Amino acid sequence: MKMNENNLKTKKLINFGPSGRAVAQPIDNNLLDNIFEHLTMERFANVQYFSMYLWFQERDLNGFASHFLNESQSEMEHAQKFADYLIARGQSVKLDEIPAPIQTWDSIEDLISYSFNMEADLTSSLQQLYSISERISDTRTNVFLDPIVEAQTKSEDEFANILGKVKFASNQPSAILLIDSDLRKK
Ligand SMILES: [Fe+2]
Repeated sequence: MKMNENNLKTKKLINFGPSGRAVAQPIDNNLLDNIFEHLTMERFANVQYFSMYLWFQERDLNGFASHFLNESQSEMEHAQKFADYLIARGQSVKLDEIPAPIQTWDSIEDLISYSFNMEADLTSSLQQLYSISERISDTRTNVFLDPIVEAQTKSEDEFANILGKVKFASNQPSAILLIDSDLRKK
């Protein structure tokens, strides 16, 4: 019977991933390793921003604090997006150890500079994922990455803006308090 033949064929053609879910196109091993590394970077950013939230809370700079709490939460959302994407592609999600966050800063400017660099590193990592995906024609991953790259560029811009203001304030308490109250409104 024709129907049965078709069914048998369908069953044979399905690949199942390590998690037991059906896989349409397996993820290349090198790309997978890079995604795992990126996931670790997002999880580290989550913890690092949380520690910065605490740093500002301890100094009663609640505007800065709320900004960093938001950042911390959005990094966890990014980590979740990558994890969900891996699951959608039939993969198991491997969670690596993350380093302890830095909790000591000489100045607000140092802290914001570090944040800006961390965002730039996240962007570089995304670019790497993007070019690997393009090279191996994993279009699904490129489409998945598109809005993430766009949001990442926005994050860089936001931190560049805060860094510009903090540098201009050059540690004058009244100027720092103005930036703090600006960040509180967001
Ligand atoms: Fe992120």
